[in-house]
Amino acid sequence: MKRIGIIGSGSIGAAVARLAVAADYEVLIANSRGPESLTDLIDELGPRAQAGEVRAAAEFGDIPVLAVPLAAYPNLPIDAFAGKSILSTGNYYPHRDGRIEELDTLESTTAEYEQTLLPDTLIVKAFNNILFHHIPNLANSLPRTALPVAGDDTAAKNRVCDIVNALGFDTVDAGTLAESWRFEPESGAYTPIYAASADGFETITSPTPGLPFRQAVCARCLLPRIALMSGRDSSDA
Ligand SMILES: NC(=O)c1ccc[n+]([C@@H]2O[C@H](COP(=O)([O-])OP(=O)(O)OC[C@H]3O[C@@H](n4cnc5c(N)ncnc54)[C@H](OP(=O)(O)O)[C@@H]3O)[C@@H](O)[C@H]2O)c1
Repeated sequence: MKRIGIIGSGSIGAAVARLAVAADYEVLIANSRGPESLTDLIDELGPRAQAGEVRAAAEFGDIPVLAVPLAAYPNLPIDAFAGKSILSTGNYYPHRDGRIEELDTLESTTAEYEQTLLPDTLIVKAFNNILFHHIPNLANSLPRTALPVAGDDTAAKNRVCDIVNALGFDTVDAGTLAESWRFEPESGAYTPIYAASADGFETITSPTPGLPFRQAVCARCLLPRIALMSGRDSSDA
């Protein structure tokens, strides 16, 4: 059976776990408070899911999912991730994560910064640009909804794309970690693109189902000219 370890049992970790059990993955999920705090979620997920420590989740399956705030990365057991590819859902929000100079100055993307925190891994960025409450109804939507995926290692990125596909989404190759700013917060390919409301923002405070969002349209949102929305010049692309 396919296995996936998920670190973080909050909005995104739980949403990915629900997709994973539905796609016949065996899931081991961890959080900061320990397995005993996950009884209700495991009951909901059913017999294919178990709770464990962070280290166990990192070692369970080939590609762990990191669904924790950026500020939690330095507290992770780094050695447990050594040699692994990681599907990272993380974003940088200064009000939550504290100010990080490299990110404030746009010197590096969040994914590049994460790569420095987990140096002996291959970070692949996915699931960071979709709100958790859009995930359940857009997984396996008709037409299928696409998510951008970025990473420096092509083989690792392809393997993450296989997982994202199995969980119910098409993928768009969004390039390297350096290019992943194209679907960071405030970019042209961030969460409002999946919203059903006309301005795209209503659902952040008032959760409603998203609308299917095709691969070709998703790819267009990653184009350089949209980069102006993230405060960068299109010549950066
Ligand atoms: N919410 C969204 O719609 C959304 C969408 C896309 C991307 N993201 C990004 O995905 C990441 C997770 O977001 P979220 O909304 O799922 O956050 P969340 O609901 O606050 O959940 C965070 C989870 O991380 C766990 N955690 C924190 N520190 C940890 C540590 N040191 N070791 C193990 N687990 C730890 C927490 O454990 P406890 O449960 O024990 O507190 C919790 O389960 C963030 O970077 C966020 O920006 C979020």
